[in-house]
Amino acid sequence: MIELIMKDLPRVTVIGLGYVGFPLACAIAKSNNYEVYGLDIDEKRVDKINMHLSPVEDRQAEEDIKTAIIHATTEENVLKNSKFIIVCVPTPINEERKPDLSPVILAAEKIARNLRKGHIIILESTVNPGVCEEIVLPILESGGLKGGVDFELVHCPERIDPGSPKWNVYNIDRNIGGLTRQGTNIAADFYRSFLNANINEMSSLKVAEATKIVENVFRDVNIAYVNELAQSFDKLGIDVHEVIRGASNKPFAFMPHYPGCGVGGHCIAVDPYYLIDYAEKNGFNHQLLKVARNINNSMPHYTVRKLVDGLKILGIDIKGAKVGLLGLSYKAHVGDMRESPALEIKKELLELGADVLCCDPYCNGHAPALIGDILENCVGVILATNHKQFVDVRNWKNVKIVVDGRNCLDMQNIESQGIVYNGIGRGFPKTLNKEIVNEV
Ligand SMILES: NC(=O)c1ccc[n+]([C@@H]2O[C@H](COP(=O)([O-])OP(=O)(O)OC[C@H]3O[C@@H](n4cnc5c(N)ncnc54)[C@H](O)[C@@H]3O)[C@@H](O)[C@H]2O)c1
Repeated sequence: MIELIMKDLPRVTVIGLGYVGFPLACAIAKSNNYEVYGLDIDEKRVDKINMHLSPVEDRQAEEDIKTAIIHATTEENVLKNSKFIIVCVPTPINEERKPDLSPVILAAEKIARNLRKGHIIILESTVNPGVCEEIVLPILESGGLKGGVDFELVHCPERIDPGSPKWNVYNIDRNIGGLTRQGTNIAADFYRSFLNANINEMSSLKVAEATKIVENVFRDVNIAYVNELAQSFDKLGIDVHEVIRGASNKPFAFMPHYPGCGVGGHCIAVDPYYLIDYAEKNGFNHQLLKVARNINNSMPHYTVRKLVDGLKILGIDIKGAKVGLLGLSYKAHVGDMRESPALEIKKELLELGADVLCCDPYCNGHAPALIGDILENCVGVILATNHKQFVDVRNWKNVKIVVDGRNCLDMQNIESQGIVYNGIGRGFPKTLNKEIVNEV
């Protein structure tokens, strides 16, 4: 039996205090059942947390940190006396779109240097099946302690949805799988002690790892499906939004997904590559996943073409045109720009010689233009993120064409002002001459 190390409150250390690790550390601290530490390599982030400020936009965590006690540090020796160690470091892709497991490996090495009998190590970062057993476990065992005997290794993938008003770290059910049944039980009871959610104990590390990847691949593939429909329906003159609304009233089997200017963020745009790579190394070629990634990756370019062609029909060359980009973050009401399609859109517009003004109230310093200036001075606008501030715009002033990359604007309102509205998959804009675009 693995024994508790601490006589008083058990110590928990969360490694990586970002969108996942910070709300989690807050939730554990708020239970008052544990002494909570946070280990991060980012000193500024550590200082901020120690001043009771949230390093991420998360309504619940911003509230929690006002009273939660988290001892944030960059010193790895806090791990020595931690009963539970939870790893929440990033799992990005590199420039070749291959998994970059270096943050996980570095975190595992830190744990290995401080590992003791009785430790419960939990990986929350999203990884492909096999990472816990084939990469993390050998590092942890390198000092001579044995997994499943001296310490436990468990995977409990995070499903948090930053910015969501409904779902937060407390109320999302979890799946959990460990090296041993005993480790899974201990870790599941630990999560039950601070979450109001069901904790589903699974049979192995690999099934828990695969479950998380499957959830995100499901989203990526379905979004690719509607993004392809959008491109087809633009040509066919059918409004894909209305079609999806219609299909959604089927009471079973159909689940709506919506097209847009691209898929971003640290999860959906990244995780499929982890499975693609691992399967490839084991002799399987995930064709569907690759096609889905390619379709979704093509959407920023498709969106830019809508603006360029539309401007051309209006007799305006993109080169030198003042263009407004509304939104840089990958989704509404967060400042996270990782893998954001807006960055691709901006890059392509600049390459085409446009004079680009970016506005995003959530991305401090990266997009300083004011929305009023854009509406006043830009001939074309691309909306890339459906922040409320943009959705609420009613008067488009001097803009001549709006490309609605999130299909969130009021088409009728825009057209009533004599402005061209061009959504993603909403059919060809009524106010543009189709014959001319075919010649362009
Ligand atoms: N952001 C999401 O919506 C979300 C949702 C579910 C799962 N995930 C997964 O959770 C994991 C973390 O994602 P995130 O969005 O919280 O990332 P993040 O970048 O917001 O936070 C990661 C933190 O880890 C720190 N860090 C990096 N390497 C470290 C190391 N070696 N030692 C200590 N600290 C280190 C960084 O400084 C940062 O503070 C990823 O695997 C991601 O796929 C993310």
